[in-house]
Amino acid sequence: MTSTKQEALATLFSQAKVIPVLTIERREDAVPLAKALVAGGVYSLEVTLRTPVAIEAAKAIMAEVPDAIVGIGTILNQDDLARVEALGARFGISPGVTPELLKAAAGSSLPFAPGIATASELMQALAHGFDLVKFFPAESSGGTKALRGLAGPFPNVRFCPTGGIGEDNAATWLAEPNVVAVGGSWLCPPAEVRSNNWAGITAMCERALKSLKAA
Ligand code: 3PG
Repeated sequence: MTSTKQEALATLFSQAKVIPVLTIERREDAVPLAKALVAGGVYSLEVTLRTPVAIEAAKAIMAEVPDAIVGIGTILNQDDLARVEALGARFGISPGVTPELLKAAAGSSLPFAPGIATASELMQALAHGFDLVKFFPAESSGGTKALRGLAGPFPNVRFCPTGGIGEDNAATWLAEPNVVAVGGSWLCPPAEVRSNNWAGITAMCERALKSLKAA
């Protein structure tokens, strides 16, 4: 049975359609990057815990970009989960599952999408009440063909595929009936961030949302 927090996450993801995966190297890039994404119509952001400044960057976005809906990704264990809860993030995402992480996430009020790539991992997620999951790494785990395979035994599961998704294939993924949103790093290329090309990032977001709406 699906829980209220999973339903809230499903609503958030399906409204977002695209969730940029942000790996923020410099604290000072966080706010202008988030502002650029929001200006381009992309409100829900996944800040990954992959850099030393990730938590500080997420805090800054939450404080200074009120329209941004800040989630945290790359949650690998209970300690990460606890840090994310303390931060007040709106949602959490992990690339995979462990029994310990699933148990901790099930006991938390944080809306959470565990990462799965196989039927067995999905069964573990379901056993803890998670019927909205990240399919990762989506392209190299078999792409839409693999996802259709999973839809057979798991018709009620909703997916956010991530990994190898970009401008050229986002619409194909979103056309799958069990896909609520797609995630990816393509909306914030490191070179554009490094050169502070915020207008370029806004333009890319606008273009992506326009083409996804038209698809
Ligand atoms: C993730 O963590 O979701 C992926 O690293 C993003 O994958 P991508 O860089 O292929 O979009």
